[in-house]
Amino acid sequence: MSDVDRAIAVLRAGGLVAIPTETVYGLAADASNPDAVRRIFEVKRRPPDHPLIVHIGADEQLGEWTSTTPTSAAILAASCWPGPLTLLVPRAEHVLDIVTGGRSTVGLRVPAHRLTLELLQRFGGGLAAPSANRFGRVSPTTADHVCADLGEEVDFVLDGGPCPIGVESTIVDCTVDPPQVLRPGAISADEIESLLDMTLGAATGPSRAPGMLDSHYAPRCRVLLVETTGAAEALVAASPNAEIIHDHDLAHYAHTLFSRLRDADNRGIETVIAVLPPPTGLGHAIRDRLTKAAAPPQGR
Ligand code: TXA
Ligand code: MG
Repeated sequence: MSDVDRAIAVLRAGGLVAIPTETVYGLAADASNPDAVRRIFEVKRRPPDHPLIVHIGADEQLGEWTSTTPTSAAILAASCWPGPLTLLVPRAEHVLDIVTGGRSTVGLRVPAHRLTLELLQRFGGGLAAPSANRFGRVSPTTADHVCADLGEEVDFVLDGGPCPIGVESTIVDCTVDPPQVLRPGAISADEIESLLDMTLGAATGPSRAPGMLDSHYAPRCRVLLVETTGAAEALVAASPNAEIIHDHDLAHYAHTLFSRLRDADNRGIETVIAVLPPPTGLGHAIRDRLTKAAAPPQGR
């Protein structure tokens, strides 16, 4: 029996499987099984009104999950899937309330990871999956991270190696005109604007994606943000038990960011001083996650 065979058997029996994706590991359940989906919330300790992304095996399946497909969603799905992009679209009637948090929209994506694509294509249905970490903590980018966070509570971990991108997917709300980016990721707003040939709307006001709280992705150590390496070096010299996180290579910065925060925690580092990358391309996503890691805790 291959690992994918085992994962399918667990999912069909209503169990939870940690799945590798190109962004971060997800904690997956059969999106059509309400009891299985309910267990995701229990294991993650996630508030029930936070909707889950449904992962599907091919962009041709988009229409099976929507009541109507916005043109923007059809264009982005055709050009970016499989890939690190989640589209919010009007949900089809069969989509469970527990998956969408009772909302009229559903978040969909086709992940670009060989094992998970094989799993999805053979499983046939959708897999509801948030990141496979405890609620409010840093997302897992290796199978070991998943085990460290969730341990025995996951029925099976499909080990697909370290996640290449390392930060969660870009989320685009296609239910508004013009569409809005609700969470920056590896596919930048600029790329989306050029694919759609339009200017995106600003995601103003309280975030319409619950779970994008100010404090999220939080390690135990204190995270301080600076704009330059000079400022980081001055600060680290003045702080006991502190270290700097920085990388000039944006792809490598994103790929290692969550591992480095976890590693700092494991070594008992008190303060991480993170140098913010420039706000271009993947730099937006890294700045977003670092800003959330640095925000004061909200009732955690
Ligand atoms: O890269 C990713 O997107 C990873 C991998 C596993 O696919 N998943 C992920 O899921 O980051 P999660 O649950 O940790 O973050 C998804 C975010 C949450 O903030 C959730 O509230 C929002 O997307 N979301 C999902 N469906 C939504 C909907 N229908 N309306 C508004 N926000 C939604
Ligand atoms: Mg998450």
